[in-house]
Amino acid sequence: MSTPETSNHQLKAGMIGMGMIFDETYAPMFRVAKQGIYDSTFGVCEIDFSAVATRTGSRAEKFREANQDTFSNFTSYTEPNAAGQLVSADPDFVCVATPDDRHFAGAKAALEAGKHIIVEKPSVLSLHELDELVALAEKNEVLAKIVYHKLLDPDHKKLRTLVADGELSHVNNGYCTLLEPKSISGGQFAEWIKGRNPGTYVAVHYIKLIDFTFGGKLKRVTCTGQRGLVGPADGNTWDSTQLRLVYEYDSGREAAFDIHTSWVTPDNFPGYVEQEVQFRFDNGNWNGHSRRRGVECTIEDKTPITAKISMNNHYNGSFLEPWEERSQRGYGIEAIERFVREVAEVEFGREGSREDRLARIAALEYNSLAADRQVVAAVQSMEALLEEHAAGHPDAVVKVNDEEGGLALYRPGEETPEVLYSGVV
Ligand SMILES: NC(=O)c1ccc[n+]([C@@H]2O[C@H](COP(=O)([O-])OP(=O)(O)OC[C@H]3O[C@@H](n4cnc5c(N)ncnc54)[C@H](O)[C@@H]3O)[C@@H](O)[C@H]2O)c1
Repeated sequence: MSTPETSNHQLKAGMIGMGMIFDETYAPMFRVAKQGIYDSTFGVCEIDFSAVATRTGSRAEKFREANQDTFSNFTSYTEPNAAGQLVSADPDFVCVATPDDRHFAGAKAALEAGKHIIVEKPSVLSLHELDELVALAEKNEVLAKIVYHKLLDPDHKKLRTLVADGELSHVNNGYCTLLEPKSISGGQFAEWIKGRNPGTYVAVHYIKLIDFTFGGKLKRVTCTGQRGLVGPADGNTWDSTQLRLVYEYDSGREAAFDIHTSWVTPDNFPGYVEQEVQFRFDNGNWNGHSRRRGVECTIEDKTPITAKISMNNHYNGSFLEPWEERSQRGYGIEAIERFVREVAEVEFGREGSREDRLARIAALEYNSLAADRQVVAAVQSMEALLEEHAAGHPDAVVKVNDEEGGLALYRPGEETPEVLYSGVV
């Protein structure tokens, strides 16, 4: 028997933002990766959680205190210019998990310094921002990736497999919903929620699922929504939104997808979030419910407030393993771990040149920023349509790659659009 390989590689990680999603997915990933990750293409690689950037530093210190045994040596930077300070500490890759309207600044600082990045969804809020980040990643020869963990959900992988194998043929229409509890809009996000909508925050999961699974060209975007709970009924902060995307496929046939989101679902709802997808094909139907996958558990004095009746043990579950170890795992964590493996392969892979490995891994469309164009186009359109609505002009439509421009917003009754993006989407 040969002796196990010892670690000869190390990657230093930087983290921007240490909120809810850091606790749920990044922290468990780093806890496991601290012991080293292994792949036959790069050997053993140690992952060092080396620096963090947050607004005030209080979450960083709380985390340090609670994790003395595993994470005590990281440096913590705070605003102003927390991200700039973090990248000057020279991490190899940077994870960006700030509120969505602050992704661009952190990602740009990291890419300018030549660091690989992974950004939380939605990647950025406009195609101008996307263009700038993609160009920086190409220039500095690093990966620019996004966390789209729903693509790693076994149910969504099965859906894509059936589509790719031609078992399900031509999607005609679909409906997706993701409803968040009131505690998100009223508590956790209260600091930055003014002027925001739940569609950008969560519809983006399904925009990506549709875009990645079915391909096609995005043609038109419409969106409406409701107000009055999180903010005033005539304001620009939205309780719930209904987005419609129309795609066209090579056959010339179209499909329409409706995505409903909210962050005002009562906190005593039986699940953490409500998530459902339905897709109708020429020869079949797919109905998936991510919350009702089989488990219902009631615990007196706990459910459904501090614990939930229906749980998603596939996304991010804490378990006592049969071999008596505690673990936390699921596709939410796997999506980030894969990125770390991709970085290790680019830097330390044994096959081909770094340039070849970078080109191959950068081209993986499931998490590539460059492949996120239609998703960002949909998000930018949705934000512009809701802004129009709040300004008293509901029911506008954004046409994609119109003769007037890449994203052309038409108000009802007006022939000349406002061009949101002039390049080709
Ligand atoms: N993948 C998923 O399913 C999923 C789930 C929840 C959230 N998210 C995404 O993760 C991101 C963060 O969400 P969250 O729920 O953790 O938010 P949160 O409000 O709990 O935490 C935000 C963190 O960002 C930090 N921050 C804010 N401004 C900053 C700045 N300018 N520089 C450095 N740090 C700054 C705050 O200090 C805090 O640590 C959002 O983009 C959200 O869409 C993804």
